[in-house]
Amino acid sequence: MKIFLDTAHVEEIREAVTYGLVDGVTTNPSLVAKTGRKYVDVLKEICALVDGPISAEVISVESGKMVEEAKKLAEIHPNITIKIIMTEEGIKAASELVKLNIPVNMTLVFSPLQALLCGKIGVDFVSPFVGRLDDISNTGLNLVEDIMNIYGNYGFDTEVIVASVRHPIHVLEAAQIGAHISTLPHKVFKQMFQHPLTDIGVKKFLEDAAKIPKS
Ligand code: E4P
Repeated sequence: MKIFLDTAHVEEIREAVTYGLVDGVTTNPSLVAKTGRKYVDVLKEICALVDGPISAEVISVESGKMVEEAKKLAEIHPNITIKIIMTEEGIKAASELVKLNIPVNMTLVFSPLQALLCGKIGVDFVSPFVGRLDDISNTGLNLVEDIMNIYGNYGFDTEVIVASVRHPIHVLEAAQIGAHISTLPHKVFKQMFQHPLTDIGVKKFLEDAAKIPKS
């Protein structure tokens, strides 16, 4: 499973890339607003840090304007992937971008049928939002399972990005289902490293190592 970071905080990305585990980054307007910085500046810095797909979301809602905005964002760096909202206008825009060979990540996907449409037009990525579904008492990971099955049935190349991840169990279940990618808040990424028995084991090894005669 590929790991993307779901953040617009450049310092979080700079720290996370040191482990050699980060395959891409997803941003959205809400994440960028939290930084207080210009979107373009943030994207340029992220592209310099991570050699993989970097999702940049358009904020237009009409297809023609989405395409124009997408073309400008795509000029920032070859790794920029355009995040398009899953609406009727979004699908029109995404179809156009696919024809232009501009990579697309369809976002705000909440149903298997929405994902089927995305797969049919051949976007590179689809982003089901598992945490927001859990928030309304739907099991978000069921959606991921449905999408993986449907895409398998038809041999779609679209990769599934498990988005709106809130905790490590989301990542575990995404991996068990075989989702291609999980995009993780920095906090969840760091939680994946942890186990209390590892900490206890390290402490014991170090204590015992100190008891070994030096020569
Ligand atoms: C990533 O592509 C999504 O925009 C993000 O995961 C949404 O997360 P949230 O539901 O926690 O805002």
